[in-house]
Amino acid sequence: MSILKAENSKKIGFCDSGVGGLTVYSKFRKLINSEDIIFYGDLKHSPYGNKSKEELISYSRNVFDFFKEQGVKAVVMACNTTSASTYPIIKNEYDFKIYPIIQSCAKIFANMGINKLGIFATESTINSGVYESEIHKYNSNVQIYSQSCPNWVNIVESNSQEDKGSVDIIKSDLDKMLANNPDKIILGCTHYPFLLDILCRYAPPDMFVDPADYFVNYIIEDLKNSDLIDNSFSHKGSEEFYVSANPDKFKVASKMFYNVSEVKLKELD
Ligand code: DGL
Repeated sequence: MSILKAENSKKIGFCDSGVGGLTVYSKFRKLINSEDIIFYGDLKHSPYGNKSKEELISYSRNVFDFFKEQGVKAVVMACNTTSASTYPIIKNEYDFKIYPIIQSCAKIFANMGINKLGIFATESTINSGVYESEIHKYNSNVQIYSQSCPNWVNIVESNSQEDKGSVDIIKSDLDKMLANNPDKIILGCTHYPFLLDILCRYAPPDMFVDPADYFVNYIIEDLKNSDLIDNSFSHKGSEEFYVSANPDKFKVASKMFYNVSEVKLKELD
């Protein structure tokens, strides 16, 4: 077996604070199902969006050390919050490829021909200013309106999006953003696409951009260019789902988006 063959048959890690990463993984799986994957949801520390940078770096290192032990060939950071705050710090600490969602998609967003771009994201992502700085690297003319939605992740993780209180919160956050008259709004947290049904009751569906739609194509293209795709397409890739807490909660919330059959509990600290 050549070194290359051994490398491309290794697993791919996907991580997020919880079910949000499934909005990325489900789209990846639809395009390519011959890859073996490990998904890690850090529910013990969810939500990430209000944690300090130091805390987030420590969580990311734990998850990436776990992926390293598992011998992955690449990790998809299916989390905007860690892409913004921990990716720049830990990116050189591991010898596998890392795909951070914001940095991987920024060029595409910058060149969408949009003048006024709204960004919905967690407090941590918004405070980092990374969406602005990454997009402006490629196109400084895009006017960006950033807004945090501090309650949305908990609404998704608790599967309570149809409760009246939740709908009111989502609508009020959306109204604030719409007052800027954006051409499009990026759902800059992987949990937010779970709320599209509700958002689309109050704004046209083509107003919203789910970065996952672009991100998964970017990842697959790059894996191919790096000779890291498993070419045995007839083989159905295996899936393992781990969480640091509440496997049952993860299973229930995930149903909205992906059929997760078995969830294992794996604490990392
Ligand atoms: N879904 C993650 C993101 O894309 C983290 C959300 C959170 O846990 O606050 O930012």
